[in-house]
Amino acid sequence: MKITVVGTGYVGLVSGACLADVGNDVLCLDVDPGKIRILEDGGIPIHEPGLIEVVRRNVTAGRLSFTTDVEHAARFGAIQFIAVGTPPDEDGAADLQYVLAAARNIGRYMDGYRVVVDKSTVPVGTGDKVREAIAAELQARGADLPFSVVSNPEFLKEGAAVEDFMRPDRIIVGAEDERAIELMRELYGPFQRNHEKLLVMDVKSAELTKYAANAMLATRISFMNELANLAESLGADIELVRQGIGSDPRIGWHFLYAGCGYGGSCFPKDVKALVSTGRDQGHELLLLNAVEQANEAQKLRLVDKVVARFGEDLSGLHFGLWGLAFKPNTDDMRDAPSRVILAELFRRGATVAAYDPVAMNEARRIFGDEARLRYVDRPMAVLDGADALIIVTEWKEFRSPDFARIRELLRHPVVFDGRNMYDPVVMKRAGLEYRGIGRG
Ligand code: UDX
Repeated sequence: MKITVVGTGYVGLVSGACLADVGNDVLCLDVDPGKIRILEDGGIPIHEPGLIEVVRRNVTAGRLSFTTDVEHAARFGAIQFIAVGTPPDEDGAADLQYVLAAARNIGRYMDGYRVVVDKSTVPVGTGDKVREAIAAELQARGADLPFSVVSNPEFLKEGAAVEDFMRPDRIIVGAEDERAIELMRELYGPFQRNHEKLLVMDVKSAELTKYAANAMLATRISFMNELANLAESLGADIELVRQGIGSDPRIGWHFLYAGCGYGGSCFPKDVKALVSTGRDQGHELLLLNAVEQANEAQKLRLVDKVVARFGEDLSGLHFGLWGLAFKPNTDDMRDAPSRVILAELFRRGATVAAYDPVAMNEARRIFGDEARLRYVDRPMAVLDGADALIIVTEWKEFRSPDFARIRELLRHPVVFDGRNMYDPVVMKRAGLEYRGIGRG
């Protein structure tokens, strides 16, 4: 099949590359010539394990190509994916200007039947707006061409996106007509060889499914974070509680890890957008409001612990910090807890030496020439002259450090662990004062 993907961000590039990998001809469009240049030169503009290999092999095979030419892109694919950004506007609602611009371009230049697939996370009702935008363009040029609008939300986890695309748990297709449903079934056939994973529903339910999934996962995390804070005061250990409840299959093991808050490009934005949609409809989503507030507070939890240990005024203190990305295996720092933590440490006068395996360039871009932040190229190097160690992201390489050496290097033997990576008993034995999340 011939497919156009509009947007070579995280979702667009993964989708385009994986669709090419099963034999389709895919053209990826982006308005940013810089990104297209990187891709044409054999690079990728993001960090995602395994993606560069998929991109390269399909470019070499001639199945994957890139362009900035909107007209060519609209004429290329019978299936047109829209995978552009939907950043939150001031009140948290998703900003649809890029989605609608993509829709208008398709309407302006398409020359035959098109299935226009919304892959971006868009508010319920966007399918209608996309349809109207395309219809208006067709009418303006007096063209009477058939098209369908489909909602096909993505459930890709950063760091595991290629695997998630290749082996999805489910494929949600919101569509109103048989022609589009047939094409989507054909398109996704290669990704569901073992059993049927494609769920067909109406467009609005598909759009809401995406938000519901992310909001549910975010709710679990905020729930565990609240209980962790309570466990701490009570002298209980949230890690034991987690195992105690996760073993109930009705609850399950996933997304029960307490920590220093969730970040990333999806949960914070999607929870806010759903709350905003609720408001527009006259529903105050009390639970999700609380999920969001609890998470904002949780991001400062580690600093609260630092303050409890070292006092309100941190001037003259220097901290080592491990992990800047919002989670391991990505360089993404969108809404990352590290940003809030660093800003608050700086505000209180502290200086920081930070290490992250891949997100350091991203941090440089965000923090610019912040004088209180120094980057080092090895985990242990953050400890030089540090008063204490703060862990924000649970990268694998932090799992088993030399605790004796940490103790030796730190001025005060304190480890603030925002991801509960270690066994408190082991830490105690190593002579380290261990302050995790919810470990009373
Ligand atoms: C998420 C969804 O999982 C994915 O399906 C959707 O398409 C996009 O949003 P992603 O943002 O890549 O994916 O990250 P995810 O692995 O879900 O983690 C989100 C955040 O929650 C991270 O900051 C992580 O540290 C935090 N988290 C996750 C916890 O604090 N505790 C947990 O138990 C799980």
